[in-house]
Amino acid sequence: MTIVLGLQWGDEGKGKILDVMAAEADWVLRAQGGNNAGHTVEIGTEKYVLHLVPSGILRSKVSCLIAGGAVVDPAGLVKEIEGLTLRKIRTRGRLHLAAQAHLVLPHHRAVDQGSEKKRGHGKIGTTGRGIGPAYSDKATRVGLRAGELALPSAELAKRLRERVGAHNRVAKSQGWEKISATQTVREMEKAARFLRPYLADGVTLAHRAVAAGKRILIEGAQGTFLDVDHGTYPFVTSSHCTAGGACTGTGVPPTAIQRVVGVLKAYTTRVGGGPFVTEDGSLGHLLHGMGREFGSTTGRARRCGWFDAVLVRRAVQLNGVTEMAITNLDGLDGLEKIPVCVGYRLKGKILHEPPVDASDWARCRPVYRVFEGWCEPTTEARHWKDLPRKARIYLSAISELVGAPLGIISVGAGREQTFRHG
Ligand code: GDP
Ligand code: IMO
Ligand code: MG
Repeated sequence: MTIVLGLQWGDEGKGKILDVMAAEADWVLRAQGGNNAGHTVEIGTEKYVLHLVPSGILRSKVSCLIAGGAVVDPAGLVKEIEGLTLRKIRTRGRLHLAAQAHLVLPHHRAVDQGSEKKRGHGKIGTTGRGIGPAYSDKATRVGLRAGELALPSAELAKRLRERVGAHNRVAKSQGWEKISATQTVREMEKAARFLRPYLADGVTLAHRAVAAGKRILIEGAQGTFLDVDHGTYPFVTSSHCTAGGACTGTGVPPTAIQRVVGVLKAYTTRVGGGPFVTEDGSLGHLLHGMGREFGSTTGRARRCGWFDAVLVRRAVQLNGVTEMAITNLDGLDGLEKIPVCVGYRLKGKILHEPPVDASDWARCRPVYRVFEGWCEPTTEARHWKDLPRKARIYLSAISELVGAPLGIISVGAGREQTFRHG
């Protein structure tokens, strides 16, 4: 079994790599997160952006599970499934929704958006999808789970009214928008009718696939430094995006994992607030000018910076990465010089590990080692040996600096622009 997850701040190209790897898989299980994620897959001239549905759905023989560690906005999922159906992608019988997954309800979105407004300049820059409040309700044991969509409608309505009522009682004092209970019930009943055939016991399904010797990929969402424990707290999401979260999210034990593929960009991006030591406006300007690095979920321009080896080395440790999939190498094609951060300077000291505190992290200055650029297109490369020598030197140096082997290299969004190292 293989975990595929992000080693930076999300948007590393997980969707693309998963889609390529799913050619040799039977199941793809989405472990955590919600529709804050946006996983892009380009097939020929067709472009798909998946939010909750695992990227394996675009391979007709692959079965998919949204596992119990995920949080599901029912109306959002219905819309996503309908969008796939319109594009002739079959989901019935192939896509399963774990009854264990928690629901994201309209009042969670109101809390997310209201809280961000209140934070003002210190805002996290969330996607506004209600993810944090839904995980918060899960942790405080008042959440509703997907399985409850199968309850008799009077009982489901009662539970929804209870939650919305509790929200509305404090909404004004908290600066949150009030939510109509009647409208919530109506919306959820409609979604429940649609989603019931997809419901399953996620853990039993996953273990049946394991017992049958199926080839299974676990799809991570977000990235290591958005992990609520290991990220740049509080500028993080509210789930566990690291390898441990892939196991708790799916109910598959760590002993069943043979391979951990860490997906990362050949440079660094992040959306939203928080420390970013190697951020560089000129690189952002260049990449945005090429029409790239705009968020797939919110359309926001992503912040861009140089490759940060301090960050990725920690991600390799945290996840037990057995191989890396490096994407967007082609983004660096035009550059004469390419800096790579090999240490942080903080209060006169050089650090080789990121600091614990986000404000210390924000004060760190990068120590760069500068590589020579290759100044030629890599997008036509189909084998390692097709890459310019300087690009091979750059990638090999990254691998050495972070302590993980190169596995897959990606030089474009297309399936065919992908090859193995060596
Ligand atoms: P994810 O959230 O990790 O799945 O990543 P996103 O889909 O949000 O963002 C990655 C973006 O990079 C998408 O637009 C992909 O189509 C694109 N992409 C992935 N790999 C490559 C690559 O090697 N080169 C180029 N040019 N684009 C890529
Ligand atoms: P994928 O799976 C990049 C970021 C948000 C914000 C922080 C918290 O496509 O890589 P949230 O809405 O989760 O409470 O926002 O996390 N964020 C992502 N950034 N890619 C993602 O997903 C993200 N999901 C959340 O921008 O900074
Ligand atoms: Mg994304």
